[in-house]
Amino acid sequence: MANALITGASSGIGLSTARRLAQRGHQVLLLSYDEPELLQACSSLGPQAVPVLCDLSMPEQVEGLWLRLEESYGPIDTLINNAGIGLRAEVVDTEMADLRRLFEVNFFAAANLCRQAMACMSRRRRGHILNLTSAAARRSLPCIGAYGASKAALHGLTQSLRLEASGSGVTVSEVLPISVTTPFFARAGYQPRGLTQTPEQVAEQILLCLDGGQAERTTHWPTALGFVLDALFPNWVAAFLAWRYRRGS
Ligand SMILES: NC(=O)c1ccc[n+]([C@@H]2O[C@H](COP(=O)([O-])OP(=O)(O)OC[C@H]3O[C@@H](n4cnc5c(N)ncnc54)[C@H](OP(=O)(O)O)[C@@H]3O)[C@@H](O)[C@H]2O)c1
Repeated sequence: MANALITGASSGIGLSTARRLAQRGHQVLLLSYDEPELLQACSSLGPQAVPVLCDLSMPEQVEGLWLRLEESYGPIDTLINNAGIGLRAEVVDTEMADLRRLFEVNFFAAANLCRQAMACMSRRRRGHILNLTSAAARRSLPCIGAYGASKAALHGLTQSLRLEASGSGVTVSEVLPISVTTPFFARAGYQPRGLTQTPEQVAEQILLCLDGGQAERTTHWPTALGFVLDALFPNWVAAFLAWRYRRGS
């Protein structure tokens, strides 16, 4: 049975993705740090789900994790770096401790797992690493500066890793969702606006990306259109977003 490690798999996009991979016959290693929620998520998936209790904000728990898991469960062919936390605050009001915690979970833990997975997968000449970033990785917005910065950092690392992995047998992908109806927003203290998607819809996009070995995948077409406009007219887009923020819309 092929193994897949999904971080942040106790709810939202991670849990929906784990469910889809379990249905395909994978043994799914679900990682998160709230034990009761994790055990409940695993029991909802059945015997193919294995709980991995780990606090990604603690670097010492992430160091060496990949080898420990492979010793217990055998080779892992898929890593989905999905765990992430948000924060709503203007940059001027963002506490440095919050900024560091956000980077620890959203960037450093994912980066460390990429390093560990890449070393093992490239030796076997097979594997897929998929990082969940966000549309905010390409265009951050007011009041999510810390979050956008952490996702932009992961976006940059993913691009480099993908190029370095070429010819190694390892595929590196990135999925950039936006406004998904999950507990993420309640935890971060704000609500999604505009078009929303369900975690199941995003999980479907993740599976398509795993199957197709795509480099990057946006989860719905308005985001892709926004990226094109932003690439062509970055100053107009910035002026429009600032105007909207001043109006409070
Ligand atoms: N929702 C959106 O609109 C949206 C948009 C773009 C990108 N994303 C990204 O998509 C990913 C999944 O988000 P989601 O919307 O599915 O959110 P979610 O339902 O809140 O899930 C987040 C997961 O991350 C885990 N997690 C948080 N802190 C952790 C830590 N210190 N150690 C281990 N696990 C931790 C949570 O586990 P616990 O339950 O144990 O806390 C939970 O399983 C995130 O990277 C997010 O940034 C989301």
